[in-house]
Amino acid sequence: MLTPDENELLTRTGAATAMGDYLRDRWTPAVRAGLLEADGAPARVRLYGRNYVAFRATDGRVGFLDEECPHRRVSLAIARNEDNALRCLFHGWKIDVSGRLVEAPSEPPERQDAFCAAIRINRYPVREAGGLIWVYLGTRASPPPFAEFEFTRLPESHVDIRRAVVHCNWLQGFEGTLDTVHAGILHVGWIGDPAKRWQGAQGAELHVLSRKVPSAAIEFAERGYGFREGALRALPDGSVYVRIRDVALPYYSFIPTPGGAPCFVTIVVPIDDETHMQWYIIYDPAKPIPDAARERLMAGSSGDRDDFASDLGGWDNRWNQDRGLMKQGHWTGIARSLPLEDFAVQEAMGPIADRSGEQLGSSDVTIVRTRRLLLDAARRHLAGETAPETGHDAIRALAIRLAPGADWRAVDTMNPPPSLADAAE
Ligand code: FES
Ligand SMILES: [Fe+2]
Repeated sequence: MLTPDENELLTRTGAATAMGDYLRDRWTPAVRAGLLEADGAPARVRLYGRNYVAFRATDGRVGFLDEECPHRRVSLAIARNEDNALRCLFHGWKIDVSGRLVEAPSEPPERQDAFCAAIRINRYPVREAGGLIWVYLGTRASPPPFAEFEFTRLPESHVDIRRAVVHCNWLQGFEGTLDTVHAGILHVGWIGDPAKRWQGAQGAELHVLSRKVPSAAIEFAERGYGFREGALRALPDGSVYVRIRDVALPYYSFIPTPGGAPCFVTIVVPIDDETHMQWYIIYDPAKPIPDAARERLMAGSSGDRDDFASDLGGWDNRWNQDRGLMKQGHWTGIARSLPLEDFAVQEAMGPIADRSGEQLGSSDVTIVRTRRLLLDAARRHLAGETAPETGHDAIRALAIRLAPGADWRAVDTMNPPPSLADAAE
């Protein structure tokens, strides 16, 4: 449970808010890199309650600007994109990727250079890595160093990127990705379904365990980027099924998958206080992701990689929930794809959940911990302490079945020992 003030602090990310300022001071994953084509349509990007435009110029460089034309504020999302610049449709002002006004045909030729030099345009630093365009929207004169992740160092062939736009506050989405116990309950309709076993038999077998033993003992290990969580389920034979997850501030959750299987990270970014985006990033450190697997990941979705849950529905149609299906035994009645179950429960908490009315249990300990860390980070930022960027590239989550008495904290997730299920096969 939070006080109303704490809830406000955590959930509000607009201009001049402590959380918004803290988040803008990190590199933010903003747009799928593949969405931007050289001389193609600019992308309209909304982050932390403000609109921007991202475009790829003729030479491949990416520009990231305020959405409004600096002249009379026409959206640059409908601008021409040509000759290494955006050209506003209204009066032809031409702005390059560095945010310089290079032509203003509405002014007399003899005044052009002086006029252009006097116009100020907000342009934001970008990085292209891991199939994403990252932007720095903070106020530092030079942005903090870009902190790599394992997936940002991989070739595009090894990474699959999808994004969903979810219609509620970002923290509801982020907390959904941190909630280990819901997997065996909310998603019970998907666990053990052979059609969904894209991670292979071992992955399916491990997930079945979370259905058989829904509750888990949760332990932590401190990390510079946040923390590592071990969710331990004691199995009848004395072995322990452990889901080792990394939580990296401010919004990264590394979801455990079996050793050798592709890895999964979610990134939950505010669009505004009542809308957020969830990046679903699957990456295989060892080999390319096959096309067939990419297609399977999109199964049951809208088909749009930049909004794969656009047909989720909402309160008007109860997220397309099928009560008939529920009578036949389906848990949620939201059967088209697993992530839709997550998004529906997140949206069903309302646009901004009031956490002062919560009554939490032992399974919520990870969420409580994350809220404390986020509150602390935002308050420190407000007090002028800049959070250091810590390395993320050695993070890898893991689901594994360990022998009785084994210490999950001692498991090297980058080079995991064989899972007990492996040994038995
Ligand atoms: S409004 Fe854009 S050039 Fe005039
Ligand atoms: Fe889920």
